[in-house]
This record gives sequence, C-alpha cells and structure tokens, in this order.
Amino acid sequence: MIFRQFFDPVSCTYTYVLGDEVGREACLIDPVLDRVDEYAQWIDGQGFRLVYAIDTHIHADHITGLGQLRERTACRTAMGEKSPAECVDVKLSEGESLTIGSLLLKVLYTPGHTDDSYSYVMADRVFTGDALLIRGTGRTDFQNGDAYQAYDSLFHKLLLLPEATAVYPAHDYHGQTVSTIGDEKRLNPRLQVRSAGEYADLMASLRLPDPRLMDVAVPANRRCGQVASPDGAGRSG
Ligand SMILES: [Fe+2]
Repeated sequence: MIFRQFFDPVSCTYTYVLGDEVGREACLIDPVLDRVDEYAQWIDGQGFRLVYAIDTHIHADHITGLGQLRERTACRTAMGEKSPAECVDVKLSEGESLTIGSLLLKVLYTPGHTDDSYSYVMADRVFTGDALLIRGTGRTDFQNGDAYQAYDSLFHKLLLLPEATAVYPAHDYHGQTVSTIGDEKRLNPRLQVRSAGEYADLMASLRLPDPRLMDVAVPANRRCGQVASPDGAGRSG
C-alpha cells in the first residue's frame, strides 16, 4: 500500500492518498482545490491512477478539489449519502465499503460536527474528518451540527475502534500528524466528559469565530468546488 499525508498550511487541512500497489489505483481523502496539482503530480509520479476523490463532509474552511480532480483525471467523486452535494458520483452509507484495488475503506456515519460527516476505516487506521481531531473535536455550531450527535459518534462509534487504530483527522492546527484511538480516549480534553449533556455544555461554551471562507466554501463545496461567479454562472477554481 502507498500512503501519504499532505498538508495545506492555509486552512491547516490534511489530505490523504491511499493506493493499492497491485492494481496501482489510488484514492484521495479531503483534497484542497489549490493543491490539486501537487496531489496529481505525486500520484502520477508513483505510477498510480486516481480512482476516487472523497470528502468526509462539506468543508467550511477551504474549497474542495473533488470537481477539478474528476475533470482532470476522470476519477469518481464520493461522499456520504447525507451529503447535500448533488454533483457527487457515489453516495456511501454506513456499513458499506469502498474498494480501491485490494484496499477496503469502511464507511462509518459520524454526524455531529455537520450532519453529513462520515469517517472511513481502513484496517489499522481511521480517517475521521472533523468528527475527531488530535486532542480536539470538530465544532458543532453550524452546518446542522449537533453536540449530542457528536457525542454519540465519538463515544458509540469512533472510540469503540481498537485502541491501536491510528487516527488521521482532516485538520490540525498545532503540527500534530497522527494519533491513536487509545491516546485520544486518555488525553483528548474534550473526551473527558461523563455524559452527552456535559459534552454539549462544553461545546456550547467555546464561542468560536466563523471560518473566514465559510460563506464562499460551503456553497462551492455543495457544487464539488465550483465557485459561483458574480453573474451567477459557475466557474471551476
Ligand atoms: Fe469541517
């Protein structure tokens, strides 16, 4: 298997490439539009073909590369079935698996940060989007976020994975690149709560500013990254 973690310093987004060496097919998780060249060149350079570009949820802080990657590489785009992005080719539901050659990405529905948040489990690792971050969790105060749902996704789904499972989130703001389910259980300050109500109180106390790009990124990402021009027509990039 090939595996690579990319970082976009503008939005502090992590993007992942996973590839199967036998069929030389790869997928991207949470690609950022501005870095599509970098991903495509890297995958080409490895002699792999991109077959899927996946978003864990509709992002509010950067524009997705899904649409442009599909145009450039003829890959298929994928999101969870609750995604409002109608442009997406494949809508996945919990319990389904996406196959990339011999690799299996198992779909977990983990709402709470947004109502369309999904995590993807592959053998010894999980790609959590913003449902579970390193020593943090995704905010729950917009895009139909819900702290009670987030608690359920965390405590009744993600934290039930084996403790050695590597955690790869969609963001980190402090240079941390990977964690494990066991470390997050013990060390994540947001997870040291005794009830869903306590978690909801904690999230309600955060009072975070809106992401700078939110008003542009959310509508664009519902169109797979197509930004509306002033005359109302769409434009890629
Ligand atoms: Fe997010």
